[in-house]
Amino acid sequence: MKAVAMNNVGSTIKQPTGYLAYVPKKLFPGGPEGLAYDVELINLVSEADRALGELNGITKILKNPDLFIAFYVKKEALLSSQIEGTECSLDEVLQVNEKTSEVKPVAEVVNYIEAMNLGLKSLEDIPFSQRLMKEIHKILLSDVRGQEKSPGEFKRYQNWIGPAGCTLQEATFIPTPPNITMEYMGDLESYYHQDSKLPPLIKAAILHSHFETIHPFSDGNGRLGRLLITFLLCERKILDKPLLYLSLFFKEHKSEYYKLLMDVRLKGDWEGWIKFFLRGVRNTSFEAAKTARELINLVEAQRELISKEIKKLSYAHTIYSILIEHPVISVTRLSKEFNINYPTVQRTLDEFERRGIVNYSLAPSGKVVKLTEYLSILKRGTE
Ligand SMILES: Nc1ncnc2c1ncn2[C@@H]1O[C@H](COP(=O)(O)OP(=O)(O)O)[C@@H](O)[C@H]1O
Ligand SMILES: [Mg+2]
Repeated sequence: MKAVAMNNVGSTIKQPTGYLAYVPKKLFPGGPEGLAYDVELINLVSEADRALGELNGITKILKNPDLFIAFYVKKEALLSSQIEGTECSLDEVLQVNEKTSEVKPVAEVVNYIEAMNLGLKSLEDIPFSQRLMKEIHKILLSDVRGQEKSPGEFKRYQNWIGPAGCTLQEATFIPTPPNITMEYMGDLESYYHQDSKLPPLIKAAILHSHFETIHPFSDGNGRLGRLLITFLLCERKILDKPLLYLSLFFKEHKSEYYKLLMDVRLKGDWEGWIKFFLRGVRNTSFEAAKTARELINLVEAQRELISKEIKKLSYAHTIYSILIEHPVISVTRLSKEFNINYPTVQRTLDEFERRGIVNYSLAPSGKVVKLTEYLSILKRGTE
C-alpha cells in the first residue's frame, strides 16, 4: 500500500534563487492514483452520506430554510476567517447592517459572505472555472489588506506557509512556484469537471487539498479553498440546500487539518486526509441537523409562551418574528425599520426580557436587544 501511495507524491524543484518549491503530481486525468478503499473509508463514505441525508430531511421541515441558510453562511464565513486569525464575533457579523462596527475583521467576514453568495449564484448558470475563482478572490480580498495581495490575480511572487512572520528559508512548506501556477490550476479545473466516478464527497476532499498545495493566490487560499468545497457539493446537488460547512470541524482540529494536508504532499497519504474530511462531513451534518431541530423546538416553545402569557400585547408575535430574522438588533432600528412605535417596542421587549426570551446590552449606538437562547445556539463554536 505504501508503494501505491508514494506514486502520488510530488517533487521539489530548485528555483533560480536556490530554494526548493513543491510541485504536486497532476490530478487530471483520474488522479490520485490507486486510492486504497479499505473498510474504514467505505464505512465513512456511508456514514457521511447518511448524515447528509438527515440534514436534507431537516431542511424540509424548516419553516424558513433560507433564513437558516443565511445564518449558516454567516457563521461559516466567520469560522473560516477565524481559522486564518480574524477576530470578531457572530454578534458583530449579524449586526453589520447597522454600521456599528465597520472594523476590518468584520469587513473580511462580510467579503467572505459576498464571495460565497456570488459563487453559489454564478454556479447556477455557468460552469466552475479559474476565472470564476479569480472573481471570487477579488471580492474576498477587496479593500481589506491592500494591493500587495493582488485581489483577483494568481500569485506573481513565491508564497510560503509557516509560523506567522517566518521567512522563505524558515517555511514549513513552499507551494507551487508562480510561473507554473496557471498550468496547475488548469489541471485542477479539468479535474473538477472530469466525471471521475468518485463519490463527490471524496472529490471535494481531493480538490481542497490540491488547491491548498498549489496555493495559487498570494493570500486567501485557505478561505477560497474552503469555499471550493461548498461550490462543488452544491453544484453536484449533494444537498438540496447549501448547508454543509466544514470550517468548525477544521477549526476544532486545526493541527490535524494542517498535518494531514502535509502528509498528502510528503507521503502521498490521500486516504488519511479523505477519512478526516469524511469524518468532518459526518459530524458537521449531524450537528447542523441537531441545531436546526433545537431552533425549531425553541421557536415553537417561545411562541407558545408568548401566546399564553402576553397576548394583550398585539405586536408581540410580530416583534418576535423580526427577532428571529435579526437576533441581534438595536432597539431603535427595530422600531424605525419595522415601523412600530418605540414605546410599543420597548414594552414588548421588556415583557420578553422578564420571561428570559431576550436580553439587552449597551453599544455605542444605543440599546441592543438579543434573542438570548436562539443566539447562543447559533453561535456555538464561534467563541
Ligand atoms: N502548516 C501548514 N500545513 C499545511 N497547510 C497549511 C499550513 N498552514 C496553513 N496551511 C493551509 O494554508 C491556508 C492558509 O493560507 P492563506 O493563503 O494564508 O489563506 P487565508 O488568507 O485564507 O488565510 C490554511 O487554511 C491551510 O489550508
Ligand atoms: Mg492568510
